[in-house]
Amino acid sequence: MKAQLLTLTATLALAALPVSAEPDLSKLPPASSKTGLTYAADIKPIFEKSCVKCHGSEKQKGKLRLDTLEAVMKGGENGAILTKGDSKKSSLVVSVARLEDDGAMPPEGKGDPLSKEQVGIIRAWIDQGAK
Ligand code: HEC
Repeated sequence: MKAQLLTLTATLALAALPVSAEPDLSKLPPASSKTGLTYAADIKPIFEKSCVKCHGSEKQKGKLRLDTLEAVMKGGENGAILTKGDSKKSSLVVSVARLEDDGAMPPEGKGDPLSKEQVGIIRAWIDQGAK
């Protein structure tokens, strides 16, 4: 009986794990309704506060720099981090929204997570063409 219970518990625990590794995009905070967003005015200040110590002139973790628009467009060791016009297809957004434990940015314990508002600004900026 005890063994059966253990098996049942293990089966239930496995069933509770997500089947695919795809992030659940329905959990993304909504894009901000602000218009006219630009890297220089709206995005760079967020990156400077939370990201550039690891993705700037001193360190380039993941071969990624976020301190110029050009560098953001270039992406990192895994290529582009955003798709202009489609924030849902942008790994940058999945990272800062912390949809997956793996690759959440800033990394767990290495800085305050971005707020829903900040993620919404980044989403709207990408949706508007990432200028
Ligand atoms: C304490 C250091 C640190 C901070 C702060 C940090 N990152 Fe990272 N980042 C890393 C490391 C290490 C990697 C590479 C390994 C990994 O993916 O965990 C990485 C990888 C990435 C990647 C993937 C690059 C690729 O091509 O694979 C993105 C996108 C990213 N970071 C975005 C950000 C953003 C946006 C911020 C700020 C909100 C941020 N990071 C803050 C350390 C950091």
